[in-house]
Amino acid sequence: MDITDEILHQHGEQRRHFALLDEFPRDDVEGLAALWNRLAIFLETHAEGEERFFYPALLKLETGAADADSASEEVEDAVKDHNEIRDAVRKASELEVGSDAWWEAVTEARIANDDHMAEEERQDLADFRRHADLQTRHDIAVQFIVYENQHARGIRPVDRDPEAYVEENS
Ligand SMILES: [Fe+2]
Ligand SMILES: [Fe+2]
Repeated sequence: MDITDEILHQHGEQRRHFALLDEFPRDDVEGLAALWNRLAIFLETHAEGEERFFYPALLKLETGAADADSASEEVEDAVKDHNEIRDAVRKASELEVGSDAWWEAVTEARIANDDHMAEEERQDLADFRRHADLQTRHDIAVQFIVYENQHARGIRPVDRDPEAYVEENS
């Protein structure tokens, strides 16, 4: 097991879930709600799992990859992105499923998530692949997967202050 593979794979699944919404019958509100609820839980537990287990380990490296000068820069950015994703997911979850406003909010969540995944893959995952040993990558994958499975029914998403998060975990 490897946390960088696991996260990358789950990003693919997230893209696929959004793609499913593209082709789903737009008048099947019950179906749309079911798809969205599951995707919202997935996005939230994925982000929370990263913040609990992956980023603290990334911060210990204090390196940086691609267009990020340091791990703290990468992580501060990532937590900021997660807050944006959480806000967009929350917004969509409060709207009437299938309405124009709901589709707009879902698109906002998708844009925030797409932007974030690209950066996370290019910086954070690349950094960890290059600098973390295989045992660490394995151990974090185990913690991350257990957390997500234990919370498969959903969590109460909490925004974090990016600077305070980096300070607390450095
Ligand atoms: Fe991610
Ligand atoms: Fe993330």
